[in-house]
Amino acid sequence: MGSAAHGFALVTPASRGLGFAFAQQLLAQTELPVIATARKNCNEVREQLLSSSGVSRGEEKRLRLLEVDVTDESTISAMTETIRHEYPNTPLRLALTLPGILSVEKSPAQIDSAAALESFQVNALGPLLLMKHLSSFLPKRSAPAFPTTDSSSSEDKLTLPSHAIYAMMAARVGSVSDNASGGWYSYRASKAAVFQLTKTFDLHLRTRSAEKALAVALHPGTVRTDFTREFWGGREMLEPADSAGRLLKFLASLPPDVQGGRGRCWDWKGEEVYP
Ligand SMILES: NC(=O)c1ccc[n+]([C@@H]2O[C@H](COP(=O)([O-])OP(=O)(O)OC[C@H]3O[C@@H](n4cnc5c(N)ncnc54)[C@H](OP(=O)(O)O)[C@@H]3O)[C@@H](O)[C@H]2O)c1
Repeated sequence: MGSAAHGFALVTPASRGLGFAFAQQLLAQTELPVIATARKNCNEVREQLLSSSGVSRGEEKRLRLLEVDVTDESTISAMTETIRHEYPNTPLRLALTLPGILSVEKSPAQIDSAAALESFQVNALGPLLLMKHLSSFLPKRSAPAFPTTDSSSSEDKLTLPSHAIYAMMAARVGSVSDNASGGWYSYRASKAAVFQLTKTFDLHLRTRSAEKALAVALHPGTVRTDFTREFWGGREMLEPADSAGRLLKFLASLPPDVQGGRGRCWDWKGEEVYP
C-alpha cells in the first residue's frame, strides 16, 4: 500500500492518551501514511510513536508529525497546506479528531469565564475548524472507491472499508439525554456540540460524497489517560490501546448507508450514545 489511491490516515492530536494509541495502532495495523499532530515536541512524539509496541522501525517513512494547536487556526491551515504539498491528490481515508480539555465545575459558582471559553475553544471550535480545513480531502461521490485488502490479511491488521471515515471524539457526558448527575457545565456543553457538528457534517457529506465518506462521533469509554488521572484508582477504566482498538474495529465495520449509523455517536462497545 502507500500509493495515493489508498489514501492517508490522520490523527489530531496524537501527543498522548487516546490520540497516541490511535496513531500507534494505525501504524502497526495498516499500511497507510499516517499524519499525526501535536502542539509541540513533534520530534519527541514521532520517536515515541516509532518505538512503541507493534511499530517496526521501517515504518518511519509512513509517519509524518505536524504541529497543530486548534486554538490557532493558522496552524490548522498550515497542516493542510503541507498535506496538499507532500501527499498530492491523496484522499483522506480515516480521520480521528480528538482535541479535548476538562475544566471541572461542580456548581455554577465555580464557572470561570476564561476556563469555560478555553473548553469551548478546544472541545467545540477545535473540531469545527479541523472539519473546515479537512473536508475537501474527503472523496467526492464521483471518486473511485478505496481499494480494500484481501481476506488473506492477518488478524492483527485492520481491514478498512472502501469509503472514507471522519470520526470526532465526543463524550457520553455531552449527551443531554444521558445527563443524570449534572456538573461539568462547560465540558458537557462543549462536547454536546460535537454531536451536532457530526450530524451536520454528515448531512453535508451525504450530498457531497454519498456513500464514499461518512462522519461519526465517538465515546471511548472511561479511559486511563491524563484526562482521567484524578479518578484513577476509584473506578474501573479501559487502557487507551483497548479503547482505540475497539473503536477502530467498530469504525471499520460501520456501513456508509443512511440507515447504517452514520452521523450519530457510538461508544467503544458499538452501542449508540443518544444526543
Ligand atoms: N479519557 C477518557 O475517559 C475520555 C472519555 C470521554 C471522552 N474523552 C475524549 O477523548 C479525547 C482524548 O482524550 P484523552 O483521554 O486522550 O486525553 P488526554 O490524554 O488528556 O489528551 C488530550 C489531548 O488533547 C490535546 N490538546 C489539548 N489542548 C489542545 C489544543 N489547544 N490543540 C490541540 N490539541 C490539544 C492534548 O495535547 P497536549 O499533549 O499538547 O496537551 C492531548 O493530546 C478528548 O476529546 C476527551 O474529551 C476521553
